[in-house]
Amino acid sequence: MNTQLLIDTANKLVADDKGLLAMDESNPTCNKRFAKLNIPQTVEARRAYRELIVTTPGLGECISGVILYDETIRQQKKDGTPFLKVLTDAGIIPGIKVDAGAKDLAAHPGEKITEGLDGLRDRLAEYFQMGALFAKWRAVIAIGVGIPSRSCIEANAHALARYAALCQEAGLVPVVEPEVLMDGDHTLEQCRAATEEVLRTVFNQLNSQRVMLEGMILKPNMVLPGLTCSTQESVDEVADTTMKSLWRTVPAAVPAIAFLSGGQSAELASARLNTMNHRFKTQLPWALAFSFARAIQQPALEIWRGEEANVTPAQQALLHRARCNRAARRGEYTVAMEKT
Ligand code: 13P
Repeated sequence: MNTQLLIDTANKLVADDKGLLAMDESNPTCNKRFAKLNIPQTVEARRAYRELIVTTPGLGECISGVILYDETIRQQKKDGTPFLKVLTDAGIIPGIKVDAGAKDLAAHPGEKITEGLDGLRDRLAEYFQMGALFAKWRAVIAIGVGIPSRSCIEANAHALARYAALCQEAGLVPVVEPEVLMDGDHTLEQCRAATEEVLRTVFNQLNSQRVMLEGMILKPNMVLPGLTCSTQESVDEVADTTMKSLWRTVPAAVPAIAFLSGGQSAELASARLNTMNHRFKTQLPWALAFSFARAIQQPALEIWRGEEANVTPAQQALLHRARCNRAARRGEYTVAMEKT
């Protein structure tokens, strides 16, 4: 295992208050988001959209790494330049989603298990050879009546740990993403309890699979009330509860925590990350960063709508969100930034 490469990559991914941009939606997920905006669900439309993202002028000022999907990592700009070259020329580290998606967990109604371990060693070797330096695997945990079950948490944590060990063997930094979903009417307290149990189990499994904590990044959910919960706590309460849960469960050897956005509005995701950094940054053992998909991309996608004429304003909206989140890493984001 190339320990130094892993440590260097993990640290580069959170240097200079930058963060990650997830643009690794699988084809079905990308198509679903396109369909809502009447964008054609074709390979060419997905390629054109990803070209818009990777060619955004100035993106590398705020984004250290992007997470690609298997289709995207092999694509090129219209002029033939590979996306991988465009990214590395902009100083952005390419990463890759390597899980094969969350499938129904047998005998566990309402729960999922992420698949993709079979053949993973060979796929990782190919991606590393192409130039990817980090990889992502997402596990999803739902909150509901009687769930999450212990067995669902354990199965997903075990898969995450086996994926992470394989990544490190191949020279890729694992971005370990156990996502407790926002869907439902559960309370902030229920999300806190589930998140802490999940993170404890994940770190137990990472230790037992001998994953080097200094060469990984944790990508967790923020601790939030369910989307349809009648009580929606303030930004300060969310920041306090999230920090408490992370302090209790994430070892100090982990260099960085990069949150997913999970369906929060772009502004709230920035405001919550900002408050955590503003209030706690000097007391934290890890960098507190972002690895957002929707909270960076959604405004840009809604402007683009598949129209060539909208590329420049869409890129401006994408860069704006990236800048807001970089400011949030410094604890310097303000609502006034949204008006600029
Ligand atoms: P969201 O920020 O939209 O939750 O996506 C993050 C991600 O990478 C999901 O796997």
